[in-house]
Amino acid sequence: MRSVPLRVAIVGLVAVVVLITPPTVRIDSSVWLPAAIVLTLLSIGLEFITVSLPKGGALSLATIPHVATILLLPHPVAAASVALAVLVEEMIHRVAVMKIIFNVSAYVVTISVASHLVGLIGNAWIAAGHTPRDVFTLAALFVVAGLTYYLVNGALVAFVVSAATQRRFLFLLRINARNTGLSELGAATVGMLFSALWIIEPAWTVVLAFPAAVIARSLQYIRQLESETRDAVKSIAEIVDHRDPNTYHHSERVASYALALAEELDVSDDLIEIVEQAGLVHDLGKVAVPDRVLLKPTPLTDDERAAMWTHTTVGAAILRKFRLFAPGADIVLHHHENFDGTGYPDGLAGEGIPLGARIVAVADAFDAMTSNRPYRRALTLEEALSRLRDGSGAQWDPVIVGNMIRLIIEERLDLPEHLRPRTTARRRRLQIAASVELSAVAADPGRTAIHEPAAQEAAL
Ligand SMILES: [Fe+2]
Repeated sequence: MRSVPLRVAIVGLVAVVVLITPPTVRIDSSVWLPAAIVLTLLSIGLEFITVSLPKGGALSLATIPHVATILLLPHPVAAASVALAVLVEEMIHRVAVMKIIFNVSAYVVTISVASHLVGLIGNAWIAAGHTPRDVFTLAALFVVAGLTYYLVNGALVAFVVSAATQRRFLFLLRINARNTGLSELGAATVGMLFSALWIIEPAWTVVLAFPAAVIARSLQYIRQLESETRDAVKSIAEIVDHRDPNTYHHSERVASYALALAEELDVSDDLIEIVEQAGLVHDLGKVAVPDRVLLKPTPLTDDERAAMWTHTTVGAAILRKFRLFAPGADIVLHHHENFDGTGYPDGLAGEGIPLGARIVAVADAFDAMTSNRPYRRALTLEEALSRLRDGSGAQWDPVIVGNMIRLIIEERLDLPEHLRPRTTARRRRLQIAASVELSAVAADPGRTAIHEPAAQEAAL
């Protein structure tokens, strides 16, 4: 059941069912009507103010009136108020129909479920409006409204996004919690305060504009800093690529191959992300290597080789200074280790080399072989495949080499234009050559699977 339309249809169906379910608490319309008008207008207005969060997420300030709606309005008025606000905003922004159906349905489900649960606990109007105030019931109502709003909405979004992106449901939930959890909690808390203030004295709710504006500004500032950090580190990596015309776009291709390999190896989503990011900056430390060494067309002397080798330790040391890049530092440090223990900087061997580094090493070597160098032309795909097979078990992990060859046979790598087979006959010859190399690699050392240590999985 991976189809997106099917999942959207399921969410839509659930929305209809929860919408017609009778309310668990009844409140007189003269009590909630002014709040319904103000909250619906607030929801519509704040739908237009979103704060971008790292990795593509966004916080809508509309969370504030949404949570207040759950606490102040009865079911199904609360769900209808939020659905109307989302519908208006998405129609003005000309969002695709499928997306509108999903978003409106998801909010109807979220608000309705939260309304029902809140109704089972009590009534905010009574808990906050009477003296002495029932603070325990009020606290329970706040926690249930905020948590249900966040969890149900997050789960519905992950349910559909996992079908669209092939990413695991739990991974998406976890990423969402990490990226938006705190900011959503902040906005939900303002929503709880809004409802308490409204019950005591509606005019006082105006003062909440100040903390809401501070939250929004702070989040925007964090987002800006993070994106500037990413751009700065990637710019340094690009400077390295640009210094040598032969390695132009090398890092982008390594990242793309490493990503394809990590997905093929079915490692955790966290490691897939780290590997792609590390591939993009794997040679960052070459900023510290002088041009006379980096661009030297003849073999390096011992001193020059030692200078070149420092790019792994320098790159890792730079990345460790940035919280966003630190998880990939070990991959960068060890991307020149050899499977038989003859590489650098630490001479690690076999599975002692971090899995991500073994993946980037194969991606890096394949791109280096198939790119022009001052001292040799780019190898053909067949020549590169045979080099990979020769180095399998010595320089590279045989399981990863096997997967690389399979990706090439099945044309699932995003190869540069000059490497792509243009005719059917050429494609056929390449597939036969690759199959031969693959069987040689598969027959090699007996290992058929890779093992991802738990520590790497938790590294992000
Ligand atoms: Fe390197």
